[in-house]
Amino acid sequence: MTRVVVCGSLNMDVVVQSARRPLPGETVLDAEVAFLPGGKGLNQAIAAARLGPPTSIFGAVGDDAFGNTLRGFLADNNVDTLGLHVVTGQASGLALIQVAQGDNAITVASGANRYFSEIMVSAEPRPSEVWVAQFETPLEATRIIMRKARQAGARTVLNMAPFQSYPAALLKSIDVAVLNEIELTQATDITIGTSSALSTVVEACHKLRAKGARAVVATLGPRGAVVVTAESATAIPGAKADVIDTTGAGDCFIGAFAARLVVGATPVEAAQYANVAAARSVERLGAAPSMPTAKEVAARLASA
Ligand code: RIB
Repeated sequence: MTRVVVCGSLNMDVVVQSARRPLPGETVLDAEVAFLPGGKGLNQAIAAARLGPPTSIFGAVGDDAFGNTLRGFLADNNVDTLGLHVVTGQASGLALIQVAQGDNAITVASGANRYFSEIMVSAEPRPSEVWVAQFETPLEATRIIMRKARQAGARTVLNMAPFQSYPAALLKSIDVAVLNEIELTQATDITIGTSSALSTVVEACHKLRAKGARAVVATLGPRGAVVVTAESATAIPGAKADVIDTTGAGDCFIGAFAARLVVGATPVEAAQYANVAAARSVERLGAAPSMPTAKEVAARLASA
């Protein structure tokens, strides 16, 4: 059976919307607050599941009310939650997200996510599956999980976000590494900005490929994405969006990418679809709740 398997983080996102973010030491009044499911692992699982393929998540939550809410939200979106572990005595992950002027700043208290480990992953990977991980849970566990998945013939997608130094062997088990401009800069020491030439982005992607990833996808926000493999470099133009909140757009891209890869799309085809899905996701508030359905993405593709 084809399946997307996401291993990673779950957070309760405390989303505070204000006219602008406060300066250090300043207080800004008249903000709005919302408690929304999030965490890169959860967001990516929801994005994949809403687009069709059977999807499972492996991760850790605390023994608190937020953990129950996150589990319920996943189940309501047809994500298999049998792989969620409760870490006694720990709080569920929490992210404070300050949204202002269409942009966001995020502070994460990892809580139970810190205790996620490979021994919590009971499933045996299969060649028909795509396994997905990020950098919000312990990286040594991610290395072991992705190595096992790849050895079993599953395809592996790694979102190197938020970037941190990682075990050197990790990328050797990765089919597709996905990073945004900031993460690509941090991973390669090649500065990538909003106006960097595409040739510079491609150069950075190849530098990462040299460390083991078979393909690298750079997500460039409104500029679209670049897919770099051994054979080619393909630029995907940005899709139009009426931006309300960009939180989780990268996660939407990853989940949608995995959802297409698992049904046989090439990395370029999967990235083209994911690019449109991510553009749709920024038109609603929040991360996980903003993930589009297959019908919404199809409508957007039809009108493009
Ligand atoms: O990528 C967005 C996510 O980053 C948010 O949902 C937040 O929980 C943080 O993990």
